[in-house]
Amino acid sequence: MSDPYFQSKFSDRIGGANYGKGTAIYKFEKIKRAKRKALADHPDRKLIDFGIGENDEMAPPQVRARMAEEINQPGNRGYADNGVAAYKEAAARFMHRNLGVEIDPVTEVNHCIGSKTALAILPAAFINPGDVTLMTVPGYPVAGTHTKYYGGSVYALPLTAENDFLPDLNSVPADVLRRTKMLVLCYPNSPTGKVANVDFYKRVIDFAQKHQIVVVQDAAHIMLTYDGAPLSFLSVPGAKEVGVEVHSMSKGFHMIGWRLGWVCGNERIVQAFGDLKDNCDSGQFIAIQKAGAAALDDESIPQQVRIRYERRLKKLVEVLTRCGFQCKMPGGTYFLYTRTPKGLADGTVFETAEACSQYLITQHSIVTVPWDDAGAYLRFSVTYEAPTEAEEDALMADTESRLKKIQPVF
Ligand SMILES: Cc1ncc(COP(=O)(O)O)c(C=O)c1O
Repeated sequence: MSDPYFQSKFSDRIGGANYGKGTAIYKFEKIKRAKRKALADHPDRKLIDFGIGENDEMAPPQVRARMAEEINQPGNRGYADNGVAAYKEAAARFMHRNLGVEIDPVTEVNHCIGSKTALAILPAAFINPGDVTLMTVPGYPVAGTHTKYYGGSVYALPLTAENDFLPDLNSVPADVLRRTKMLVLCYPNSPTGKVANVDFYKRVIDFAQKHQIVVVQDAAHIMLTYDGAPLSFLSVPGAKEVGVEVHSMSKGFHMIGWRLGWVCGNERIVQAFGDLKDNCDSGQFIAIQKAGAAALDDESIPQQVRIRYERRLKKLVEVLTRCGFQCKMPGGTYFLYTRTPKGLADGTVFETAEACSQYLITQHSIVTVPWDDAGAYLRFSVTYEAPTEAEEDALMADTESRLKKIQPVF
């Protein structure tokens, strides 16, 4: 195929004139290909999919019923712009009830079309060419990608077992700190499952004040917290002076496809977010916001979601432990992040988590997501499809019998 006349016109941020010509195959595409191969080679063997990072349930019936009512209201038909008061008020009530955080629903919160878009927009508020964003790795990369789009760069803070999956803020060199505008955190952490504590957040606030850095804390998984009560960054004194927290309806409310979340915290940052957002979208459909508000007011929803994934994670930890993995219950998220075996009893060696993941998919039809950013780890997501607990148990038994045969060596 010959190049279109505009081939040389693509922006540098997506590869310039080379856009669309790369041959690199990305992680999730490799997983997809391996899945296709496993299905073709072993059509009778069930694929056990721990790879999908999406809730396996629909939004609860009461939320869908509310949506069905709201969709017929003429008043909900127009542009929502920077959001309706009903949703912001519900978000403020939720922050108060569940997280002990006081939020002014008029000035300190705005909705977003999923937290992904908020993380994509926020760098525009701070990043000029040459500026730096500090980001934990492994992690959700969106704020970093947009930092680079604006001519900034990302300084990676590795999350390792040795630092208890909390970034070492003292490790950032002085010349990087001078150029740093944002620190992006994510707790409960995806993919490591680590939850933050008050002490860590206090250090973050001191660090931000000292070096005049803005903190963006991604709380997408916050209602999936198993180690005690969920902890908001904003509940720690001083946090509102240094940053914002980004919340999502996706994980904790089974509303992943509805595309709804909110940004809250520092008033001036929320204002900047709103100004930028206004130039990116015209707000989420008001019916979705109103159904979202009803969901936020219903305590039972995040409670049931948490019970479901906590139960599944506990079962998975037991199974993997019996198969030789060294893992423990994560503090939060629906992910279990565990060290990759170095190889197998038969002498097979895995140089990387990716090699192990490919082996598990193609040879045993078990799908995981590999992470090689800070040590070799596999991520098992417990969002697999198993509508009943009996099916859940059967899937666990099947996983155990397949993994026991391979005799992993650590
Ligand atoms: C850590 C983290 N942050 C943010 C998001 C984006 O979530 P959403 O845009 O559905 O709110 C995800 C989704 O996978 C995530 O894992």
